[in-house]
Parts: sequence; structure tokens; C-alpha cells
Amino acid sequence: MRLPNIPALLQIFLLVWTGQEVKSANILMSGLVGKGSHFLSLVPIGKRLVRQGHNVTCLIMDEYKERADDPELKKYFNFEIYKNTDPHYTTKEYFQFVSELAFNENGGLRSFGKMMYLTKELLRKSCLFVLEDKEMMKRLEKMDAIVSDVSWLCSSVIKLYLKKHANTDIRIILNVPNTPNAMILDLAGSPVNPAYQPSTMSGLTSNMTFIERTINTISTAVFRSFGNQMGSYFMSFAEQF
Ligand SMILES: *[C@@H]1O[C@H](CO)[C@@H](O)[C@H](O)[C@H]1NC(C)=O
Ligand SMILES: *[C@@H]1O[C@H](CO)[C@@H](O)[C@H](O)[C@H]1NC(C)=O
Repeated sequence: MRLPNIPALLQIFLLVWTGQEVKSANILMSGLVGKGSHFLSLVPIGKRLVRQGHNVTCLIMDEYKERADDPELKKYFNFEIYKNTDPHYTTKEYFQFVSELAFNENGGLRSFGKMMYLTKELLRKSCLFVLEDKEMMKRLEKMDAIVSDVSWLCSSVIKLYLKKHANTDIRIILNVPNTPNAMILDLAGSPVNPAYQPSTMSGLTSNMTFIERTINTISTAVFRSFGNQMGSYFMSFAEQF
């Protein structure tokens, strides 16, 4: 049996009617402090959102405020720039350390430990700078959604803050620019099996010897425990605000 065609007039009516349901949203886009790949991988997503009629505002730290002067980015985005108010702290130092570590073959466990410590410091400090800027937080109350890099845990705290203080129904969308590691896969509810899923930064492939699997299992456990630590750490941080 042939299904009857929907009359053209009805099709047009449906098109116009559903078209009216599309609203322009205020979207906060936040890729870490505004640095490197964590920021740049969000740019095409943000541009697309702007082309769809949304109003996208990038949240960046003043150490990377040159982004706001970039003629290409300026065409698409608004900017909210928060200040690093700690005279003894700079994020550039952190990123320098990480890039040195990335090219250092024998960095070992001590460098890894230091990187984890510095990462925690970066995430904590930069989030404090955001939350302490009460005027900016007030301006963010109009946001409908946050599009964020997954490493920037503060976006979840911003969401909780706005939900509680401004009673907004703000949504969050996370972008993962790196190979997924155990803590991200856990959060997404995906299975993690170190027998064939190589851990982030391990340099391994899915074809591993017994020794490599052992190393991979330890590396996976370290990432997972770091993820759990950061999770509970940021929950207490959120409660504080
Ligand atoms: C778009 O966002 C900017 C910055 O957050 C804001 O100043 C502006 O009023 C917004 N525009 C609209 C149409 O909501
Ligand atoms: C895995 O690696 C071993 C040793 O390098 C090799 O002999 C084997 O063919 C590889 N297996 C696959 C599926 O690539």
C-alpha cells in the first residue's frame, strides 16, 4: 500500500511552524583559560553556532586577552575576560612545563606527579578568578548554555553557581579534544579495558605485550585516581561558593 503524500501546503505549514521553535541562545564558550588546542578546538564549534544564529561569548583569562583582538575571532565572538588576581601565579609557567614534559623522554613519575599538582593548581586558581568576579558572574546569568572543554572543570562549577544564584536552567556541553582517558570514559559511562585500550600519554597501541599491558593498567589506574580526586575536590570547591 502506498502512503498518501502530505499535501504541500501542510509541509510548508510544518516547516514554518517548527522554524519558529528555533530560538537564538546566549552561549558561553570556555576552553580552559583561552590557551592552545583546548581553546582552538572549540572555535569551529562556536563559529557554527554563530552561523545558526546564536550569540557566543568566549570566557578567557587576561593572560590570553590577545584572543579578543584577533580580527577573525572578533568577527564571530564576544569576550568575557577574567583577571588573574594572584601576583605570584602565572599560567604561562604551567604550560611551559607541560610542553617541556611532552618532549622529554625520561620525565618519569616525578614529572608526572608535578604535572598533576600544577594542573590542579591551574584549575583551582583560574576557577577562583572567575567566581570572585561577581560583576562578571552577574552578566553570565543570561547564558542558556555552556560549551566547554572537558579539562576545564570550572564550567561545571559555573553551571551549579548560576543554577543556584540565578535559578537559570543552563545546559552544559563538553568537548574532548584529546584521546579519551580513563576518567573521561568513566564519566561518559563507557567501558575501559586496559588490555587493549592504551592509556593517554602512554605511547602504546592496542597491540601490547604482557609487560606493556601491566604498565597500561597502572597508567589507567593513575589517571582514574587523579580523576576521582579532582572530582571530589571540585565538588567541595563548588559547595564553598
Ligand atoms: C550577546 O552577548 C553579549 C556578551 O555576553 C551581550 O553583551 C549581548 O547583549 C548579547 N546579545 C544579545 C542579542 O543577547
Ligand atoms: C602485534 O605485535 C606483534 C609483535 O610486534 C606482531 O607479531 C603481531 O602481528 C601484532 N598483531 C597485530 C594484530 O597487529
